[in-house]
Amino acid sequence: MSKILENILRKKSTDELIATSKKSELKKTLNVFDLIVIGIGAVVGTGIFTIIGSAIQGGPEGVGAGPAIIISMVFAAIACVFSALCYSEIASMIPVAGSAYTYTYATMGEFMAWMVGWILMLEYAIGNITVASAWTGYLTQFLKGFKHVLPDFVVNFPMWLRNDYRFMFSYCDKFGLDPHTQMPFIFDKIPVAINLPAIFILFLLTLLLIKGVKESTRFASIMVGVNMFMIISFIAVGAFYVKPENWTPFAPNGFEGVFMGAFLIFFAYIGFDAISTTAEETENPQRDLPVAILGTLIFCTILYVLVALVLTGIGPLSSIDTQAPIAHAMRMIGKDWFAGLISVGAICALTSVILIYQLGTTRILYAMSRDRFLPKSLRLIHKKFRTPHVLTWISGIVVMVCSLFMDLSISAELCNFGTFTSFIIICIAVLILRKTEPDRPRPFKVPFSPIFPILGILTCGGLMIYSMKYLTTSSIYFPLWLLIGLLIYVTYGYKQKRLEEQGRKVRKRKVKVEV
Ligand code: ALA
Repeated sequence: MSKILENILRKKSTDELIATSKKSELKKTLNVFDLIVIGIGAVVGTGIFTIIGSAIQGGPEGVGAGPAIIISMVFAAIACVFSALCYSEIASMIPVAGSAYTYTYATMGEFMAWMVGWILMLEYAIGNITVASAWTGYLTQFLKGFKHVLPDFVVNFPMWLRNDYRFMFSYCDKFGLDPHTQMPFIFDKIPVAINLPAIFILFLLTLLLIKGVKESTRFASIMVGVNMFMIISFIAVGAFYVKPENWTPFAPNGFEGVFMGAFLIFFAYIGFDAISTTAEETENPQRDLPVAILGTLIFCTILYVLVALVLTGIGPLSSIDTQAPIAHAMRMIGKDWFAGLISVGAICALTSVILIYQLGTTRILYAMSRDRFLPKSLRLIHKKFRTPHVLTWISGIVVMVCSLFMDLSISAELCNFGTFTSFIIICIAVLILRKTEPDRPRPFKVPFSPIFPILGILTCGGLMIYSMKYLTTSSIYFPLWLLIGLLIYVTYGYKQKRLEEQGRKVRKRKVKVEV
């Protein structure tokens, strides 16, 4: 029993982590510009192009913030900034792939590291299901703009080929339609509804990720460039149509709306932490990681507040759309052509989010596999491209399969819960490392520690607990996810690690005997 306890609490020393990363076979090609592209590419996406609508208007599970969404945004940014500072400190101190998973291993031991790795899958892989599906939504919008040019079956792509079966059933329910008339059934029993565009884009991006991280970030930078151009144009054009009277009432649902808005819009900030997953592929991680993490967060906050001011100022609250709010706002002021361009910007933004999230998922799994939680065969590096191709395929396929049946808002909420938890863990890790390794060089230090890390824990924890009161379904699924992670560790992860460790010892002994 004491041996088991010793194993599950065993930490990986910081020196050991750094030594492992020095032997890394991953190519070091990323500079600070690439990192900022990764940051903005991972952050700006569904949150600002879609979720902002329900954060302002409210939805089935919560009331909206109204124009006070800008307060929600600042609040969500504050919750992020403490964690971003903590990420910057640890990432510059331990520039190793794996992000929060790795940092937990260094501070809280094996079991907690496994659990954090598992929770990060919520943030990256499950979060990507929401993004991939929003991608299809914007593609459909975009194609509709070509109704006079393209054939009807492309413009009005069949619904069962762009939605999952749950959506199809609820759609039929809502409009009193017979599901058998809306989608095919195998043997008259099994419904067939596939989000084909989402699967297609995931497949293409998986191929790109295998080709190389530099190629992937180059592609992401083009996507980020287009989407930034569109968002900034929206702010510039829309500003002329803002009527300040639309900003009153400012907070129609008081604090409750502002807090729910902060919880929902938090999704729009997720992603800056993805920068730290690529630490081993960065040329100068100590200097560049903190600059990129904090730079991304500050830039995105300013951008979001401006978008929100224009969006809520253009029309009355009731006119804000919850599916494609920015494009809709442009249509309201008679700029249909611009609405089409916004869809292009959104497609680019969502493409880069999917790409970077898949990159993050793979790098976390790679770090877990290198720590012997997952079989060695999974961490194989492609001989020519030097990328973890097996894991890249697995992550891609898992998200493609999950997009066949996962509910979108639930996957977004679960992604938020996962991210809040990993942010809290990062703040705790900083506090622990300040005690256990006070003298290790820190190229970047969180100011006012321990106050800032503690504030990070309180703000993220507060938002999470508050929202659990309302988000009934995902507040059940989240503990369930943790339980499944625990069971997999007990029945598989723990044993796999011991087996691999024993195999390693035997191999070492054999080498000695041969010598
Ligand atoms: N922040 C990312 C987005 O909004 C997850 O799509």
